[in-house]
This record gives sequence, C-alpha cells and structure tokens, in this order.
Amino acid sequence: MSDLLQLPSKPCALRVMPQPSDANVHGDVFGGWIMAQVDIAGSIPASRRANGRVATIAVNSFVFKQPVFVGDLLSFYADIVKTGNTSVTVSVEVYAQRMSLAEDLVKVTEAILTYVATDSDRRPRALPVLD
Ligand SMILES: CC(C)(COP(=O)(O)OP(=O)(O)OC[C@H]1O[C@@H](n2cnc3c(N)ncnc32)[C@H](O)[C@@H]1OP(=O)(O)O)[C@@H](O)C(=O)NCCC(=O)NCCS
Repeated sequence: MSDLLQLPSKPCALRVMPQPSDANVHGDVFGGWIMAQVDIAGSIPASRRANGRVATIAVNSFVFKQPVFVGDLLSFYADIVKTGNTSVTVSVEVYAQRMSLAEDLVKVTEAILTYVATDSDRRPRALPVLD
C-alpha cells in the first residue's frame, strides 16, 4: 500500500473532469485543453500574490508525462516558485484519478509558467510588498 502514489496533502488549486468534447476520436484529451486548465490553475496563486489581474507572459516548460482520458478526475496543484518585481513564476503539477478512483492515480503533467501583474491599462505593475 505504502508505495502507491498519493495526492499531495496541500490544497489543490483546481479540480476538473474532462468531457467527451475535450477529446480526440480516440478518447485522449487534447493537450491544448490541458494547457488551458494549467494556465487557469497557475493564475490562481499568481493573482492572489499580485492582489489583482495578471497576464501569462511565458510557458517556461510543459511536460505531458502520461495521457489524460475522458472521465479522469484531474487535480491541479499550483505553487509559487519565484517572484520578481512584477512577475510571479508558478509550478503546476497535475494528477489524474483514472475513472475517478483514488487508488488509480498518476501524475500526468508538470509545467512552469510566468505571470506578470498588470494594471488597468494592461501594463506591468509592481507586486505588492508582503507584510
Ligand atoms: C505581460 C505584459 C504586459 C508584460 O509587458 P512587457 O513590457 O513585455 O514586460 P517586461 O519586459 O517589463 O517584463 C515584465 C516581467 O516579465 C518577465 N519576463 C519577460 N519576458 C519573460 C519570459 N520570456 N519568461 C519569463 N519572464 C519574462 C520580466 O523579467 C519581468 O519580470 P520582473 O518585473 O519580475 O523582473 C505583455 O508582455 C503582454 O501584454 N503580453 C501578452 C500577455 C497575454 O495576453 N497573455 C495571454 C496569452 S495570449
């Protein structure tokens, strides 16, 4: 039992189940759909840190380690790994519970994305100073 992969104990940013409209004719989910969900998940801690709107400036790395299937329960974990003057870099890890079963868990995707805090004119804005 102990060598079974387990979901991280920290809170996940996003949980979603791909539908048939998100897949190709073979039932594998489109990579672009997963990239969109990863972008959303990563933007959550980034916009919290920025205390406002952010724009994605870069996808630094993106690895599809395993396929994703319709009906997988996907859990997205997003952690800030670096901050700059205006930017927040986030690591996103995605786990799939096949057929939504906790005991059938695989890590499917790893990505690193950078977001920039922006003002109402969509220009870069300094991150707020932390207390
Ligand atoms: C986000 C945007 C406002 C930033 O404006 P910019 O003038 O290009 O930004 P800057 O050159 O001042 O860089 C801003 C920050 O991004 C970082 N950055 C720039 N290019 C980067 C890259 N390729 N990878 C990682 N970080 C990068 C800079 O280091 C800087 O960080 P820092 O302030 O923490 O040091 C602008 O690029 C933009 O609007 N891009 C489109 C965003 C978008 O629409 N995304 C959705 C997908 S279409």
